[in-house]
Amino acid sequence: MTAIWQVDQQIFQQNVRQVQNGQPIMAVVKNNAYNYGLTFAVEQFLEAGISCFSTTSSNEAIKIRELAPTATIFLMNATREFDVLRTHDIHMTLPSLSFYKAHKQALAGVKVHLEYENLLHRSGFKTYEEIVEVLEDHAVNDAPKMQITGLWTHFGYADEFDVSDYETERSAWLNIVENLLNQGYSFDMIHAQNSASYIREGQIFPHHTHARVGIALYGSRPYSSLSRSMILQSLTVQANVIQVRTVQAGQHCGYSFAYTAERDHTRLAVVDIGYGDGVLRTRAQHDVLINGRRYPIRALMMSHMFVEVDEHVEAQDIVTLYNDELRIDDYTFKGVGANSEQLSALNLDSLIKEYK
Ligand SMILES: Cc1ncc(COP(=O)(O)O)c(C=O)c1O
Repeated sequence: MTAIWQVDQQIFQQNVRQVQNGQPIMAVVKNNAYNYGLTFAVEQFLEAGISCFSTTSSNEAIKIRELAPTATIFLMNATREFDVLRTHDIHMTLPSLSFYKAHKQALAGVKVHLEYENLLHRSGFKTYEEIVEVLEDHAVNDAPKMQITGLWTHFGYADEFDVSDYETERSAWLNIVENLLNQGYSFDMIHAQNSASYIREGQIFPHHTHARVGIALYGSRPYSSLSRSMILQSLTVQANVIQVRTVQAGQHCGYSFAYTAERDHTRLAVVDIGYGDGVLRTRAQHDVLINGRRYPIRALMMSHMFVEVDEHVEAQDIVTLYNDELRIDDYTFKGVGANSEQLSALNLDSLIKEYK
């Protein structure tokens, strides 16, 4: 018996179509498609009619090209492997004025999207003026040069409702877009919205060509006020009860006094999954599901956990950590960790991986 990570393809596909809702989507497939598997995810998105992808790694971008020969592929991290970009027709972010100045000649023939830094401060041009400086310099440059095909930003606060920062970054960005278009500049692609922004706005911003969506496509709600039926989780993570042990009050269980039994005849299920399989310590502060009942995790080890159970649980019973009832996003809202953090932690080298 080994713990299993399993995705229901039909539910995955249903969710993608529900989120897509007929809108033009750029699917974010970075980090092995949020750990759902790059090949699987790209194939599912293509089947749903999505043919635009973004990632942060050039290796993943090349793999997407092999899977989707005619897709638009956008690399969100700048690379200096310009030949790779040209050879595989991969668009790339232009992350700063200094990058442009340093690589102006070498970028010839590369398709770039000008990035606006905004409140995240991770990458991008600092100001409207910096963007215009590049556009003007580009216009008068007669030498072989890059192709400016896009304009983009990333919001750092779209999932936040209690502070005004999303409004701030949103209006700064929309002003930039409006001003550039009013100045006569045009772009084949303009994209900004992640899942939270796309869903809370209920539409794609004016003049934008795509919403750049990740987590919602993978079945997790970006914020808690969304109904569960709006976004469907296709992922199940299940382990097994290897044996049930009985301990007495005061006995310490697990490494370094991890758990001390409070009552005599405490029944502890030894379960074959642990932090080595990607179960976060914060997740272990919450229940699991065995035979339709909830039971508390008492100690987390590398390949095992103790779950305190009652007389209804026996060896070989199935222990559910995540499914459509114990959703990744529920635990996000309980403070376990970001949706993507929980997903990425799951160790697909140690868990059985199955698409059913
Ligand atoms: C630049 C960029 N765009 C889009 C996304 C997608 O965000 P989400 O998964 O919240 O939809 C991410 C994810 O972190 C990102 O880094």
